[in-house]
Amino acid sequence: MPNVLITGANRGIGFGLVKAYLGDGWQVIATCRNPGAADGLRALDQENLEIFPLDVTDHPGIDVLAEKLKGRAIDVLINNAGILGSPTFENGGAGQTLGDMDYDGFRHTLEVNTIAPLKVTEALLPNLELGEQKKLITITSNMGSIETMEDGFVAYRTSKSAVNAIMRTLSFGLKERGIMVAVLHPGWVRTDMGGPDAPVSIAESAAGLKLQIEKMDISSSGTFRNFQGETHPF
Ligand SMILES: NC(=O)c1ccc[n+]([C@@H]2O[C@H](COP(=O)([O-])OP(=O)(O)OC[C@H]3O[C@@H](n4cnc5c(N)ncnc54)[C@H](OP(=O)(O)O)[C@@H]3O)[C@@H](O)[C@H]2O)c1
Repeated sequence: MPNVLITGANRGIGFGLVKAYLGDGWQVIATCRNPGAADGLRALDQENLEIFPLDVTDHPGIDVLAEKLKGRAIDVLINNAGILGSPTFENGGAGQTLGDMDYDGFRHTLEVNTIAPLKVTEALLPNLELGEQKKLITITSNMGSIETMEDGFVAYRTSKSAVNAIMRTLSFGLKERGIMVAVLHPGWVRTDMGGPDAPVSIAESAAGLKLQIEKMDISSSGTFRNFQGETHPF
């Protein structure tokens, strides 16, 4: 059976992806900041599930994980962990508008959403190269699309635009090595981040993302799509 590694797997879309892949018989390597408190993950059938601690901003911690996984193939790597930044949708994006910028929050958002996917990718590249499927996926957002950019949420939007740029850049060199690199928008999803008014359920988003990842091959490298397979402008 193929396997998938998912970051930020204890709740939200990451947890939905864990359940979707396990349900299809995959082996899942789930990472989260605090496995001891990840009750949902620990309640799942553990036969095909491994749980590792990982704060994606902790670069030495990422290297420790890579050392633990040394020599093991990973078919699909999903950079999912992410934050909205200082605000929530409920308070309309405070701390992320001109005249009201939380710069420390902005830096942290870049650490989590932009730099961490690059570091995780770099550390686990040898594992992806050993995998049969060789797919590197990063969960981005339509809010990071420069072409369809709107006002507000400066930190979040910028962090997602930048991770799109990173993944697009990597896609060229990694394609030569047989690794497919793509970014996917999960829809507006009812998670802690997306809030209760979001139209898409976690299960629907996770199933859609999994299907799109399955449909992708090396010719999909460098693309930006949503969970329904529609191409999104960068
Ligand atoms: N929900 C939406 O509508 C939506 C739309 C577009 C894109 N997205 C993207 O989808 C991804 C998942 O979002 P979500 O809606 O599932 O959000 P969520 O419910 O808030 O869950 C976020 C996940 O990321 C983890 N995380 C945050 N900071 C971390 C860190 N430093 N190290 C490791 N894990 C960390 C959280 O772990 P803790 O429990 O430890 O905090 C949690 O597992 C994100 O990349 C997000 O930007 C979501």
